Amino acid sequence: MDRFQSELTDFIHRLYEGERKVLVFGEGEIGAPVMMIGEAPGEQESLQGRPFVGKAGRNLDAFLERAGMDRRALYVTNTVKFRPTKQSAAGRTVNRPPTQEEVRLFLPWLLREIELVGPRYILTLGNVPLKALTGRGSVIGDAHGQFAEWNGRLLYPMYHPASVIYNPSLKDVYQRDIDRFAARFRGEH
Ligand code: URA
Repeated sequence: MDRFQSELTDFIHRLYEGERKVLVFGEGEIGAPVMMIGEAPGEQESLQGRPFVGKAGRNLDAFLERAGMDRRALYVTNTVKFRPTKQSAAGRTVNRPPTQEEVRLFLPWLLREIELVGPRYILTLGNVPLKALTGRGSVIGDAHGQFAEWNGRLLYPMYHPASVIYNPSLKDVYQRDIDRFAARFRGEH
């Protein structure tokens, strides 16, 4: 992985004209039954070099607790492995959604990661990982909360935890989706 990582880091530095991008790797055990795939690291994730350690991470912990799942059952990663940023009108560095090009750059890595970890369930959070795996036609508003077969695994799309923070009316839907997943997972494990 070291050579791969340094080649990719060089490539990204060239792409972003020397801007320092930190790669945030997936975290969890090979063989974990559940892989959760987010969009891209945010500020905290980029600072700490770990996925889902900021606000969205606290949401993830609540998810685990509610689902009665051991942290070791879960492998957590992102579609894009660095923090996509832009300058705000006030001149601050803020998050932005990853572009199609950035998703394409990291897709082979994500597919290999799925193969290596070998999860039975793949939980995608929001539109970015859902579209990356199933194509541009799928949208989270239609696909959330339903199990679908994906390359011999079970795909379960959920809203992104951040969208629940911005849109509180999604909270009940999000919780129902979590409960449905948890019931199925408990039934099988
Ligand atoms: N949101 C994501 O999609 N991924 C993270 O790692 C953190 C926040």
